[in-house]
Amino acid sequence: MSQQTRLLQTDNASLHVAAALLQAGQLVAIPTETVYGLGADATSDQACAGIYTAKGRPSHNPLISHFPHATAALAEARDHFPLRRLAEQLARQFWPGPLTMVVPRHPQSNICQRASAGLPTIAVRVPAPPATRQLLALVGRPIAAPSANRSGRISPLCAQDVQAELQGRLAAIVDGGPAPVGVESTIIDLSGDHPLLLRPGFITPADLEEACATYGGLAHPAPAASASDKGTLTAPGQLTSHYAPTLPVVLGGQVNLQGTLEALLLFGPDEPDGLGVHAGLQGVDQQGRPWWNLSPKADRAQACSRLYAGLRWLDVEGRRLGCGLMRAPALNVLDPDKTGLGLVLADRLRRAAAPRGTTPTSR
Ligand code: TXA
Ligand code: MG
Repeated sequence: MSQQTRLLQTDNASLHVAAALLQAGQLVAIPTETVYGLGADATSDQACAGIYTAKGRPSHNPLISHFPHATAALAEARDHFPLRRLAEQLARQFWPGPLTMVVPRHPQSNICQRASAGLPTIAVRVPAPPATRQLLALVGRPIAAPSANRSGRISPLCAQDVQAELQGRLAAIVDGGPAPVGVESTIIDLSGDHPLLLRPGFITPADLEEACATYGGLAHPAPAASASDKGTLTAPGQLTSHYAPTLPVVLGGQVNLQGTLEALLLFGPDEPDGLGVHAGLQGVDQQGRPWWNLSPKADRAQACSRLYAGLRWLDVEGRRLGCGLMRAPALNVLDPDKTGLGLVLADRLRRAAAPRGTTPTSR
């Protein structure tokens, strides 16, 4: 069912309107430093059900709850659990910021079953933009917010991306300008005896290493693509196709110089063999290939901030210019050490390139 979607700014009066809509159980897209979220009252099963419907999201995939400050977030966690001290330390170190913690749910937690998909754990985070935290404080309840895209598609980085994905399926979008980080938060599971990296993000394993050292270090689970098929394991990083453009995505390999025209996702100053010069950030080359350089100076933070915009742009331009696929020829140079930002870039690109349609997608 289609509804009118209002576009709101971040002035006081607009934030009050957004807060009232959220309190009334409506869906409102909110800006965060990572990507835009599709927000709903995390204490209301009915409001959270709306998120799953609007996104077409599988109901066994739980949501992250957002808070204005660490005290409110950690109040939803059990008072005592083995990694509670680590959670408090990471909150001091990284919040507000792009880190999500999975913690055991407090017996009196207000977060509804829908938001946590019936799990004994909850995912919590404090986003960075001051206007968003002001909105969260005005609402006075946690806000559940997955990325504001249709399930399995590219996460939105600005209000216009949200409109393109979900216009008519939500009450309002708060326009906080472009999301500076550009990739989803890092998710760390603190519900067991040892910290576990569930999803790589802008906060890297290298950033987390010191805090985690006294708790046995940060473990990385091996991706198990079949886990979500059973509908049991809800951890991200375990689902295959995601962040998918409509064109097929191919990682690495040689650019096809004669046959199928390819849209190119480049990284760094080096040109793929046999191609002309692609100077600058984006363009269409003489052979009619659209190309997008994630970072001509090979800066991985810049590459994160330009990744989803690049996938969206290459998808649209590639289709318009008759490309048969999108290729990222330089994938091998992105992720040399597995502990820095290359990890998140390679993770998202592998998901964009994963076979589609065989596995339920998430997020
Ligand atoms: O940067 C972000 O995290 C953005 C912004 C909007 O905050 N949100 C986001 O949400 O990326 P979403 O729904 O697209 O991804 C959240 C992931 C899901 O894959 C879900 O499986 C996982 O968090 N998750 C949520 N609760 C969990 C839990 N209790 N245990 C394990 N994983 C959980
Ligand atoms: Mg998502």
